[in-house]
Amino acid sequence: MNKWDKIFQNNPKYKPLNELFLSKLLQKIQTEINPSPKTIIDLGCGISETVIQFAQKGFNVTGIDFSHVALEKLQHKIDVCKLKNITLIHADLNDYKIKLEPDIILCNLVYTFIDNKEFFLKNVSDCMKKNSVFILITPVKHKGVKYTVVDKPGIAVGFDETLKKVKSFFSSVNIYHHDYIGFREDYVTFLVKK
Ligand SMILES: C[S@@+](CC[C@H](N)C(=O)[O-])C[C@H]1O[C@@H](n2cnc3c(N)ncnc32)[C@H](O)[C@@H]1O
Repeated sequence: MNKWDKIFQNNPKYKPLNELFLSKLLQKIQTEINPSPKTIIDLGCGISETVIQFAQKGFNVTGIDFSHVALEKLQHKIDVCKLKNITLIHADLNDYKIKLEPDIILCNLVYTFIDNKEFFLKNVSDCMKKNSVFILITPVKHKGVKYTVVDKPGIAVGFDETLKKVKSFFSSVNIYHHDYIGFREDYVTFLVKK
């Protein structure tokens, strides 16, 4: 049992993606990148509703996570919703090679927990087609800002280093959205093209 299995046994409350944000994001993707995306992988899906949100919009969804407990709980929710267009895969994103070529790759609140970020980013890049998009949502922290515990700097990645690293693997990296939470928590959505 890994650390995340223990966390998921206590049914943590992670927010689903905001529906307004999601519909604006999809509109942007359809207008600028891919007019009819149909497939999505959710990297580190946990027990979140995200896979369900996309499946209910008609996407074929694959969720990947390395917590058995999360995947069992998520499968239960999927069964309750009677959704047939979701596949769950148990895998460690530090070494699992993605075998699909999805239109959208989503990674929400997971990047900070990935030890092998180079492998992870190369893996994402390798599975992308020309008109795929990688949506990377992560808390970030900025140089020169003094954070306190309530700002949760422990689950944030350095903004400058992250932008630099992601840019080194992809041709186009846009900062699409900031979501300011709490005192100084800053959740950035990077919209990344191959
Ligand atoms: C904070 S939760 C976010 C879950 C979900 N994306 C959401 O938005 O609710 C982090 C997730 O990343 C998963 N995770 C962390 N490290 C991982 C790894 N190396 N491989 C696969 N999943 C991982 C955890 O099991 C957990 O489900």
